[in-house]
Amino acid sequence: MLNTEKAPAADSPPFSPWRLCVAPMLDWTDKHCRYLHRLITRHARLYTEMVTCGALLHGSLRRHLRRDEMERPVALQLGGSDPAELAQCARLGQQWGYDEINLNCGCPSPRVQRGAFGACLMTQPRLVADCVKAMRDAVDIPVTVKHRIGIDREESHAFVRDFVGEVAQAGCSVFIVHARNAWLEGLSPKENREVPPLRHERVWQLKRDFPQLTICLNGGVSSNEQIAAHLAHVDGVMLGRAAYHHPWLMSEWDARFFGDAGRDTGRDAAPPLTREAVERAMLAYMQAEAAQDGTPWYAIARHMLGLRHGLRGARAWRQVWSDHRLKPLPPEAVWQRARQHTEPDAPEGPGQIADGVRAV
Ligand SMILES: Cc1cc2nc3c(=O)[nH]c(=O)nc-3n(C[C@H](O)[C@H](O)[C@H](O)COP(=O)(O)O)c2cc1C
Repeated sequence: MLNTEKAPAADSPPFSPWRLCVAPMLDWTDKHCRYLHRLITRHARLYTEMVTCGALLHGSLRRHLRRDEMERPVALQLGGSDPAELAQCARLGQQWGYDEINLNCGCPSPRVQRGAFGACLMTQPRLVADCVKAMRDAVDIPVTVKHRIGIDREESHAFVRDFVGEVAQAGCSVFIVHARNAWLEGLSPKENREVPPLRHERVWQLKRDFPQLTICLNGGVSSNEQIAAHLAHVDGVMLGRAAYHHPWLMSEWDARFFGDAGRDTGRDAAPPLTREAVERAMLAYMQAEAAQDGTPWYAIARHMLGLRHGLRGARAWRQVWSDHRLKPLPPEAVWQRARQHTEPDAPEGPGQIADGVRAV
């Protein structure tokens, strides 16, 4: 059974709700992308792209906040540094049914720096604490913070430890930590996700410093084996690029990391998850979105291009879905063309995918 209707995860109390998360990614983790990811994993926590307070308070609420019930649990990530504005936006997030409000203290882009939020907020823990407090006073859902381990060449662990300590005093109990510094000058946002060295042990240390807090590690994690290793040290792991480019990596998550074997064993009469079943569900979603919102299918299909990563014919399959000449065709016709290039999609149970890439 594909998870198209029910809100998942509330039934897994032994695990932290932040055990596995898919990162907020601007231009990538929109509503359509989250729908795809939720078809593949019932329990992972999903995050929106960062939405700035300015965009919410002066732009279209529906455009920025529209979501599907089946995406839950889903967090709204906000970008801002004005406590009153953030409180107002957090309230909107709660009204629109989000399960968490996450404050971005990790984005290094020049545009965001000009707005005096994102990563540069790490130098102002008192202000972040005020923002957290204002949001917590405004909503009942958790308010969390996503940040880096340092700014520029600041290499001391004390910097991030003091940041977390001060923000925790304002009532934040969940920290998602991208395990590298943000260099505020001289690097593009993309380089800032690659060049500053990864220091996962700093995040493990934070968990030892604050055992009562929920610490979720992010940055450079690309396989389920790596996730398992990190979970021995922290409460949760957040994947960004690997989840986006190789979404089938997540097909193992419910069984392996949440003890939910229902889909793979047929325990709750669920047939095994296959890529083909996911694609069919996405076709139905494309039709519904076109009817409801006029969304062209290719705005949705662009998030699926990695779905067959590692299988024979994946490249040709991807090329069909991204062929501009096919835009006027209905999505089923494009799908039929694409699948001519691929092998049948065998069901996959736990253990069969090691690194999100199946041997062919
Ligand atoms: C295209 C793209 C857009 C991103 N946008 C955001 C964002 O809106 N908010 C945020 O906190 N991080 C953003 N990030 C950073 C990711 O959330 C994550 O911290 C980073 O990619 C490191 O994780 P990874 O190595 O698993 O990808 C973005 C990353 C990418 C690749």
